[in-house]
Amino acid sequence: MTITQLPSTHEGERQLFPTGDLCRPAGYGPDIDVSGLVDSRNGLVDRSIFTDRRLYDQEQARVFATSWLFLGHVDQLQKAGDFFTTYMGEDPVIVTKDKSGRIRAFLNSCRHRGARVLRADYGTTRAFTCTYHGWSYDLEGKLISVPNEDGYPAESWDRSEWGLQEVAQLDTVLGLIFATWNPKAIPLDEQLGDMKYYMEAFLDRDSEGTTVVGGITKWVLKGNWKLAAEQFGTDWYHVNMSHASALMVLSPTGKGPKAEIANTPGRQFSDEHGNGTGFPTHPKSRFDALPVHQHYDYQALTERLGEARVHGPLTTGHATVFPNFSYLPVNGSIRVWHPKGPDEMEVWTWTVLDKSMSEEVRTAQRLYNLRTFGPSGIFEQDDGENWSEIQAISHGWRTNTIPLNYQMGMGSETDDGVYPGSTSALYSDAAGRRFYGRWAELMNTPAWHEEEQSR
Ligand code: FES
Ligand SMILES: [Fe+2]
Repeated sequence: MTITQLPSTHEGERQLFPTGDLCRPAGYGPDIDVSGLVDSRNGLVDRSIFTDRRLYDQEQARVFATSWLFLGHVDQLQKAGDFFTTYMGEDPVIVTKDKSGRIRAFLNSCRHRGARVLRADYGTTRAFTCTYHGWSYDLEGKLISVPNEDGYPAESWDRSEWGLQEVAQLDTVLGLIFATWNPKAIPLDEQLGDMKYYMEAFLDRDSEGTTVVGGITKWVLKGNWKLAAEQFGTDWYHVNMSHASALMVLSPTGKGPKAEIANTPGRQFSDEHGNGTGFPTHPKSRFDALPVHQHYDYQALTERLGEARVHGPLTTGHATVFPNFSYLPVNGSIRVWHPKGPDEMEVWTWTVLDKSMSEEVRTAQRLYNLRTFGPSGIFEQDDGENWSEIQAISHGWRTNTIPLNYQMGMGSETDDGVYPGSTSALYSDAAGRRFYGRWAELMNTPAWHEEEQSR
C-alpha cells in the first residue's frame, strides 16, 4: 500500500459537545479519512499526522474525546474539597473529592462566559468560584450561587441546568485516576486488558500501594505529543545511540552501559487498544539507585509478581497507555504528554513510590528520577532533543511527503508463553504500529458525540 496525501479541502472545524438547545449545522465536524496516512500493517506513517492542524483538531474530537485519559494519582486528593487541575486533551479539568469521598472531574470552564473557573494547580476548597463574575459551583459541580440572580428571567432560568460539565466515566487502577468524556467507552479494566499485568510490575510491588512525592514537574517541548507517546510505547531501539553518553556516565566501569540494559534479550508487548511496553529480560535486572535496590527483597517480589516480571518489566523498560500516559519503572516516573497544538506538547511528570519506602529511599528515587528524567535530566534531554528536532524539520514539502518507517520486527509478534498477550522482540516497532493503528481507527470512526448530534 502506498501512502497518499491529505485531501486538499476540508470543510469541518472543531467538534464540540452538544450545546443544549443550540444545534450545529451538518458537516460541522471532523471529516478527514486517514486511511492513506497510516498503514499499520506495512509499517508506514505519513509525516503530516505530526504537523497538520486539521488532523490535530480531528484528534481532539475523535481520539481525546473518546479515550480513557490519565488525570493524576489518588494520593493527590486526601480529603473532601482537595482538588487539582489538569487537561484532557486541550480541555482543562478540575479533579476533586466530593463530600462523600467520591473522585469527580469537571470541565474547568465556567458555564456563564467560559472563563477558567479554577486557576490554581491544586488546593482545598468548599466551592469553585469563577473569578470573572462570581458564579460558584459546589464539589458536586452544581451551580450554587449567582451574584445578582434576581436579574435573570424567573420563568426561563433554571440554575440546576448550568452546573459544570462532568466527565462521563471516571475510574482508578493501581492508584492512578483515569476519566473519559465518552459514555460508551469500554470499562477501563477492559481497555487495559493484558497491559495491567505489566503495570502491576511497577505499581503493585507493595501491598500498601503507591504514593507520589515532590509535586508535578511541568515543561514545554517543541514536538508533537505522539512522538513522545509512541517512543515510550515502542522504542528501546534508540537507547544505546541517543543515550550513549548518559549510559557511559552511569556505567560502573565508566566504559559503557550495563549488559542488562544494552545487550540482553527482551520483549515488547502491544495490543489492539494501542497500549505498549518494552523491557530487557535479565536475571540481574535491578534498580539503578542503590538505596532503592537495597530496599527491595527480590525473593519476596518474585513470590508476589513471579520471576518473569522481576527479571523484566519490574525494573527497566518503558510503557505507554494509549493515548498519552507513559511511565518508566526504573525511576518511578509517570508522565502525561499534553497536546498543545500540532507542534508542541507539555510534559507533566510525577515520581511514584511504594508507600512502605523510608524517607531516605524516597529521596533517593526522587532525585534519581530528576537527574535522569527531570526536565534537565541526562536522559530526558536526549529524548526531547530528538522530538523537537524531528518537529523542527517536519514542515518542509519534501520532508513532509516521505513516509516514515515502522517496519522493525514486522511479523515477529507472537504469544511467547511467558509474557501475556502479543509480544515481539525488544527491538521492534510492533507497539508503534499498533499505536498508530489504533489512532487511525479512532480518527476514522465517528465519535459518540457526533452520533448524538446526528440524531
Ligand atoms: S464567566 Fe464565570 S461567572 Fe462569568
Ligand atoms: Fe529515551
